[in-house]
Amino acid sequence: MFNWSTAALVATCACISLVSAVQNVKVQGADFVNNVTSNRLQIIGVAYQPGGSDAFGKGSDPLSNGTLCLRDAALMQSLGVNTIRVYNLDPTLNHDDCVSIFNAVGIYMLLDVNSPLPDQSLNPGDLDGSYSSTYLNHIFSVVEAFHNYPNLLGFFSGNEVMNDVGDGGPVPPYIRAVTRDLTNYIAKHSPRLIPVGYSAADVKEILTDSWAYLSCAIDGKMDPSRIAFFGLNSYSWCGPTSDTANYVASSYDQLVDEFGKTSIPVFFSEYGCNKVEPRVFDEVPVLYGNMTDVMSGGLVYEYYEETSNNYGLVWLYDNGTAQIRVDYDNLQSQYNKLDIKALESGNSSATMIQPPSCSKSLIQSSTFNNSFVIPDVPSGGQELINNGIKDPMNGKLVSVTQTQVALPVYGSNGGLLKDLAIKPLADDQSNTPDGGSTSGTTTSSGSNPSGTKKSEAVQLAATAYLLAGILVSCIFNL
Ligand SMILES: *[C@@H]1O[C@H](CO)[C@@H](O)[C@H](O)[C@H]1NC(C)=O
Ligand SMILES: *[C@@H]1O[C@H](CO)[C@@H](O)[C@H](O)[C@H]1NC(C)=O
Ligand SMILES: *[C@@H]1O[C@H](CO)[C@@H](O)[C@H](O)[C@H]1NC(C)=O
Ligand SMILES: *[C@@H]1O[C@H](CO)[C@@H](O)[C@H](O)[C@H]1NC(C)=O
Ligand SMILES: *[C@@H]1O[C@H](CO)[C@@H](O)[C@H](O)[C@H]1NC(C)=O
Ligand SMILES: *[C@@H]1O[C@H](CO)[C@@H](O)[C@H](O)[C@H]1NC(C)=O
Repeated sequence: MFNWSTAALVATCACISLVSAVQNVKVQGADFVNNVTSNRLQIIGVAYQPGGSDAFGKGSDPLSNGTLCLRDAALMQSLGVNTIRVYNLDPTLNHDDCVSIFNAVGIYMLLDVNSPLPDQSLNPGDLDGSYSSTYLNHIFSVVEAFHNYPNLLGFFSGNEVMNDVGDGGPVPPYIRAVTRDLTNYIAKHSPRLIPVGYSAADVKEILTDSWAYLSCAIDGKMDPSRIAFFGLNSYSWCGPTSDTANYVASSYDQLVDEFGKTSIPVFFSEYGCNKVEPRVFDEVPVLYGNMTDVMSGGLVYEYYEETSNNYGLVWLYDNGTAQIRVDYDNLQSQYNKLDIKALESGNSSATMIQPPSCSKSLIQSSTFNNSFVIPDVPSGGQELINNGIKDPMNGKLVSVTQTQVALPVYGSNGGLLKDLAIKPLADDQSNTPDGGSTSGTTTSSGSNPSGTKKSEAVQLAATAYLLAGILVSCIFNL
């Protein structure tokens, strides 16, 4: 039932919630923890790159269109995720609408600072040439664009820069150099300490060495070139009819052994092998089951179905229409079975392991670099770190005035989802699976499984409008 006193009550809480629905998350030992409640955050995430990496560099990026983000945030909220990963970002675009929408629904962001455009990533074939002050200026501008947002979980200094055994020779010192420069820039210019990590390709021969090399301490615990978390892109568990769908055959048991002594959070920065389709995600109960002491969850690759790559959870069309794939439904039902309370209550004092000091003996492979001499900041780079980049563009939260998704979205069964909307969360909450099914109920969205009648929807819209008005006054009062 709708009445104005309820609306006013809701609005009072919404003052806080729509501006800062999430609290900062920090790294504590081998865990991500909420900076206020000390609850552990296990990453329940998806990779978010609508359009694929080819779409980048054409005047938009995945976080630049609020209309599309509202649609996707509503679907992700019903799915149950608490984190997205975005690979390619243009720091000259405005991300306020999108990030504020994800913030309102309690979804954190892991962001890559690099892009495929020239001078915007390290080139393993030309390390010295690509590690330049022009490059640093780009990655620092990504920091500036995002560092004010409370739902920023961390930056990746690199993604799969080491793609084969050979890269393990020359590349590692450069990843530490980039991590150092980002960490130093953040310490000087950002409102809080935002962790910087690395996302590794699934190259078995150099995986443990990569983690050991990047996470040891060269000069005590505060060494800025040390990564704050380690992501692993893992595709070793391939569904029920493959012979890899168990704890041992997928080599998940080895990961737990190898990373059991980790001093930093380790998680799957991508997972979701698609050799068996549709995917049923039967690795989910294992990842969030007996691996949770060691692993901090993972991000499913990927939200958007790229042209027949069959890694997508949702089809997105140029006209703004979306349709859920059955993989989304399967993942949703796996997430619904998780015991979130148990996942949040990890004992992080049990995982406070001091980082080992860097030494040759940490490195096992004979071809992996075991020198911890890190390249100097390239010419012109230290001035950027000391003084900040010129004319930075800083994003900031804005009020979220629209909750109802205006674009048509279809369930996997073809039914139109009526009244699909985001459901802004109260202060201090991150999103969790809600037990609903999105495709199954064509008269309502999963985030509102009991169904919203049309008249109520109009009233909800009125409430949203009221909230927006109050919110604006809240912001001006802050
Ligand atoms: C954690 O919260 C404290 C107190 O509000 C704040 O000073 C600090 O910057 C926060 N740290 C992080 C890493 O968010
Ligand atoms: C390992 O790193 C050191 C220090 O940066 C560098 O001088 C050396 O060439 C690298 N080794 C290989 C095999 O590339
Ligand atoms: C983890 O779960 C798998 C089943 O998926 C089981 O085979 C394995 O023994 C378990 N490991 C531990 C350490 O409990
Ligand atoms: C949007 O495009 C898709 C794919 O081409 C099509 O199936 C759908 O009917 C279109 N929707 C609208 C509302 O035009
Ligand atoms: C955002 O996407 C919608 C739906 O595709 C489109 O109509 C609109 O023009 C886009 N807005 C901007 C600013 O690009
Ligand atoms: C957390 O772990 C530590 C170390 O294993 C242990 O001493 C402590 O009792 C645990 N605390 C809780 C609340 O379980």
